[in-house]
Amino acid sequence: MAHIIDGKKISQEIREQIIADVALLKEKNNLQPGLAVVLVGDNPASALYVRMKKKGCEETGIRSFEHVLPGATSEEDLLHLVDRLNGDSSVNGILVQLPLPEQISEEKIINRINPIKDVDGFHPVNVGKIVIGDDDCFCPCTPYGIQELIARTVPDLKGKHLVVVGRSNIVGKPIANMMLQKNKRANCIVTVCHTATKDIAHYTRQADILVVAAGRPNTVTADMVKPGAVVIDVGTNRVPHPDGGDKTRVVGDVDYERVSIVAGAITPVPGGVGPMTITMLLSNTVKACRIQNKIR
Ligand code: GUN
Repeated sequence: MAHIIDGKKISQEIREQIIADVALLKEKNNLQPGLAVVLVGDNPASALYVRMKKKGCEETGIRSFEHVLPGATSEEDLLHLVDRLNGDSSVNGILVQLPLPEQISEEKIINRINPIKDVDGFHPVNVGKIVIGDDDCFCPCTPYGIQELIARTVPDLKGKHLVVVGRSNIVGKPIANMMLQKNKRANCIVTVCHTATKDIAHYTRQADILVVAAGRPNTVTADMVKPGAVVIDVGTNRVPHPDGGDKTRVVGDVDYERVSIVAGAITPVPGGVGPMTITMLLSNTVKACRIQNKIR
């Protein structure tokens, strides 16, 4: 049976470090990292994320600034708010919760955020820095969390074959680029499979580490996994509960029950990748504070 990678526990360990880092910034530099979170409209999932981000800030000593705008907010008004946050030195990180209402171009908003405050890692400057391997970048929170889980599970990553299923801008493309870099937390051989891949199993069977971000339940079944492989399941899919009725449950993209018999280690859903993302956002906010204040 596979070792279960406990995202909740690892996330908590990283948060303890963030608490210590925030305390040290206060003591030595009299600084408190600040994160601005912007929510437009009343999408319940987005509102829940924003509340969790605020709670994460409170728990770690980061100052949080919440901006909740009506769903009918114009693009111009949101651009003005971003400008204001860019110019506010108490705000080290800016996160505009996605998706945005249709009258607002997400691309325009992301491009307006000062890259040194882009703790989401979505600005083209940060995307480019990830590809180049510049340490002064912000990695998007989900792939950053995935890298932490992998690095803590596989001590020697050099030359390992990492196969990614999915090529989204939020997960597939950034994790592939991050794990390709020549450093201790990467240095992998990377293969990316996607919707145009004819025989996904041909590739996944070669994986020492398999990252599945396809957005579809049962994308990876036990016959597709090499015995002993490390499996990271990024999916969150709501499916009908086996008990029937109106009940639902959340599953990943991997057939967890069967794959966990073959794999060497696996992340559960929920409780694997999910708990890591907000923690990595907090980590990026502390990093942003350090970079902006030229503290090494
Ligand atoms: N909506 C869902 N995930 C994310 C995320 O990581 N960042 C932002 N800004 N919005 C999201």
